[in-house]
Amino acid sequence: MSTAELKDLFQLNPKITFLNHGSFGACPLPVFQDYQQWQVKLEQDPIQFITKTGVEAYRRSKEVFAEKFHCSVDDFFLTPNPSTAFNTVIKSLELEAGDEILSTDLEYGAMDKTWDFRCMQTGAKYIRQHIPLPISSKEDFLAHFWSGLTNRTKVIFISHITSATALILPVKEICEKANKLGLITLIDGAHVPGHIPLNLDLLNADYYTGALHKWYLAPKGCSFLHVKKQKQDLLDPLIVSWGYASEFPSHSQFLDYHEYTGTRDSSAFLCLPSLADFWEKQQWKQKTQKAKEILHRWYPLFCKLLETKPICPVNTDFLGQICSIPISTPLPFELKEVLYNQYNIEIPITNRAKDFFIRISFQAYNQEDELAYLYESLAALKSEGKYLN
Ligand SMILES: Cc1ncc(COP(=O)(O)O)c(C=O)c1O
Repeated sequence: MSTAELKDLFQLNPKITFLNHGSFGACPLPVFQDYQQWQVKLEQDPIQFITKTGVEAYRRSKEVFAEKFHCSVDDFFLTPNPSTAFNTVIKSLELEAGDEILSTDLEYGAMDKTWDFRCMQTGAKYIRQHIPLPISSKEDFLAHFWSGLTNRTKVIFISHITSATALILPVKEICEKANKLGLITLIDGAHVPGHIPLNLDLLNADYYTGALHKWYLAPKGCSFLHVKKQKQDLLDPLIVSWGYASEFPSHSQFLDYHEYTGTRDSSAFLCLPSLADFWEKQQWKQKTQKAKEILHRWYPLFCKLLETKPICPVNTDFLGQICSIPISTPLPFELKEVLYNQYNIEIPITNRAKDFFIRISFQAYNQEDELAYLYESLAALKSEGKYLN
């Protein structure tokens, strides 16, 4: 199947050059149809579905997940998004005035806000350790990160792949050291499942969240929270419902507390078996490998055009199918609008403080021609001189 045919498996508007898979993902048609079938089943027989058939389908989905991401079915639950997952953890952590949460200044804004909220309640301090760009090596990154460690550090919070800057960070090394130091680890892997390898048991973080509707291609509203066994009983439910002090407890208080949050449509959670079939049938993993190679080949070309420098070594240690190229623009918001309105290109302009980036996502359904079209469009805008310096 050609990449053009692959794109037909998605419902994305064919008139748009879609280079922003990273924000909310896209779901292939066979999986989307499975999702809708679950919704129909729920509507046809709500009582049976919510109490029996849906529960069994959820269990099957969890089994597929556990095999794919290397963990026990008892150690995670599905959530609509990473914010729900980490609100559960952050609001439940015991923090005291002066405790420090060591993080970076590369984190996702909504997570920063959640920490700010919790720190206001408790008097703890959220330390957004400055990471200078470009990063020259893993060691360089780790040295900058760990220089924020103090004797008040209690928690480590860090993205596995950052949002605005799209960098893969060395979280395995961070978890190893944090575990030795007895620090609590929260890893935000929103962009990780289906994008780079993920072995939850081996990584051994205390808390790990990831979105399945981004690079793993699930219907929107499908994410997870994985919690190390020793921490499970410490976690309060974000929403107190029937599983709290349950009259019919299961083998796991952790699952009782978190898996039932009131009436909802959980159809997106039930599609993991059909997604696994899709990945297998389309050999999606091999295709994403090729997409990475193409994107990494283009990264320096975009830098040359925009007269900027890569923010990290251009290799698979730091970059996957998404990368952020520094740009110099006086009008970042307008640049995004003109790319969409005039050139039909959907692509985000992101920032870290006053540094701006154009963030390219290159999914297996994207064609190299689309990168060439983005290149030509940026070249035209650069020579115009209004949106790009
Ligand atoms: C690092 C990171 N965390 C979390 C999210 C998304 O979280 P939510 O869907 O809960 O807003 C994103 C989305 O792009 C992200 O890049």
